[in-house]
Amino acid sequence: MQQQGAIIWLTGLSGAGKTTIAQGLAKELLKRNYLIEVLDGDIVRTHLSQGLGFSKQDRDINVRRIGFVANLLSRNGIIAIVAAISPYCQVREELKQTTTNFIEVYVQASLAVCESRDVKGLYAKARTGQIANFTGISDPYEEPINPEIICQTEQSTIEQCVSQVLQFLEAQGLIIPHSAAYSFVNKNT
Ligand code: ADX
Repeated sequence: MQQQGAIIWLTGLSGAGKTTIAQGLAKELLKRNYLIEVLDGDIVRTHLSQGLGFSKQDRDINVRRIGFVANLLSRNGIIAIVAAISPYCQVREELKQTTTNFIEVYVQASLAVCESRDVKGLYAKARTGQIANFTGISDPYEEPINPEIICQTEQSTIEQCVSQVLQFLEAQGLIIPHSAAYSFVNKNT
């Protein structure tokens, strides 16, 4: 049976855990033999969106480009995993309306916690004005209104967040439940 495509769209503040969850999901889905691709904002911005900045206009262009590629992958049966701040509701909604199997995952952590993690040292730079338009500090982040999944990374481990998404995919029939996949393999060996 050919797998169904989907777009797992992880949105949230810088440092909330989007990339880590995306990598965890990728690893688990690959282990289960699904075709996947990860589109990470930081990486996309060095290729497809090179030269774009962080104004609303540029972020919307970036997000639409990522959405376009994710849709190409998804309609060819691949599970596209996107990790991008994607701070604006309207463009996320637009993608939800114009694509199939779009799963919005709000990777939620408070600004205070993201700032205290400051994995890339960017919050410190934003506070001292070395980086302008920094999401959460000097630029808005619009929370999803009706996300399919909320991963609360202050309370949950990465493994729990990954499981949450996998369970949703299973419930939607987009992937085979792990136990079923296992017994299927067993029956044929
Ligand atoms: S988005 O808003 O257009 O979706 P995207 O996820 O591609 O953003 O890129 C965000 C990454 O760019 C952050 O993880 C961070 O490493 C870097 N970055 C540099 N400047 C900014 C800024 N002003 N606001 C947010 N992120 C920034």
